[in-house]
Amino acid sequence: MKLSIWIVLALCALTLASTPAQAEADLKLPRERVTLVAPPFVHPHEQATKSGPKIIEFTMTVVEKPMVIDEAGTKIFGTTFNGSIPGPLMVVHEGDYVELTLINPAINTLMHNIDFHASTGALGGGGLTQVNPGEQVTLRWKATRAGVFIYHCAPGGSMIPLHVVSGGMSGAVMVLPRDGLKDEAGRRLHYDRVYYIGENDFYVPRDAKGNFESFAEASDYFPKTLELMRKLVPTHVVFEGRVGALTGKDALRAKVGETVLIVHSQANRDSRPHLIGGHGDYVWETGKFHNPPLRDQETWFIRGGSAGAALYTFRQPGLYVYLSHNLIEAVELGASAHFKVDGQWNDDLMKQVGAPQPIPSATALQAKPK
Ligand code: CU
Repeated sequence: MKLSIWIVLALCALTLASTPAQAEADLKLPRERVTLVAPPFVHPHEQATKSGPKIIEFTMTVVEKPMVIDEAGTKIFGTTFNGSIPGPLMVVHEGDYVELTLINPAINTLMHNIDFHASTGALGGGGLTQVNPGEQVTLRWKATRAGVFIYHCAPGGSMIPLHVVSGGMSGAVMVLPRDGLKDEAGRRLHYDRVYYIGENDFYVPRDAKGNFESFAEASDYFPKTLELMRKLVPTHVVFEGRVGALTGKDALRAKVGETVLIVHSQANRDSRPHLIGGHGDYVWETGKFHNPPLRDQETWFIRGGSAGAALYTFRQPGLYVYLSHNLIEAVELGASAHFKVDGQWNDDLMKQVGAPQPIPSATALQAKPK
């Protein structure tokens, strides 16, 4: 009898010791407020840190607005985090806490939430972050795993794929090891620039003449898109929300000798990034930094529902196309971006030894088929 009382008391003490209020009181960590920036750019951050864990505060606002997704001006009803497709990349270090305030302004028409693949419990936070128009919520989770991970809206039922593939409600978190990135032998790796490329597949209905329809309202866009997306044949596959978003004056920049980290996410569908004329020197194909990176990759694989990271040092100047090496998706549906690289050409790596010229006649005769 006496023993059972002690067991009950011990259990009560344990319960009290682990109440949320107590945990809150214990979490006296330094706080850092970070303002997010629109992709392909990434907010300033340390690649390795000597400081202890922090609580990193982010704010994101859900923006519902029509968004142009191709050169023809086709408009989808856009559901977005912070007004961009994809949402911003958040960077923290392993052991930090992400504290996100998610705002759904009253002007919006839909309920939204956020599922962080990097977090643990409660549907990745999806169960604790449902906000109707006019509401906001704050969620904190501990970054216990290093790597790049997607986040996405997951409001339930068909609204899950609709918010992700129609509007583009996804983005990524990069949880860096506290001592930074490393190669397969544990040597430190450093990047001079980081770009975040979010890939999206869109399913835009056509009118009776076969032209893409444009949409300004979810009530108009969602039912027709739902029907189309169930066939699993996208009308657009794009980087940064629209065809050509990272080309021309918006091409990604680098210099010969610079090392660039490319974070690539796809919340719904598989992709095969390839840098024409370059490589992935180090590739974390599944994006998780405690696994040794793959070396010298030509094309790597991003599984739908994940993010990956590739590190490359540019050796030659010029225009590089970064695309999904399903070439139909890249050229016909939009999945390509450009890197514009400045610097000195290296003849040792490549040289046009003889310019195109007519085939000399003797050789031409020899080559003539019988
Ligand atoms: Cu949503």
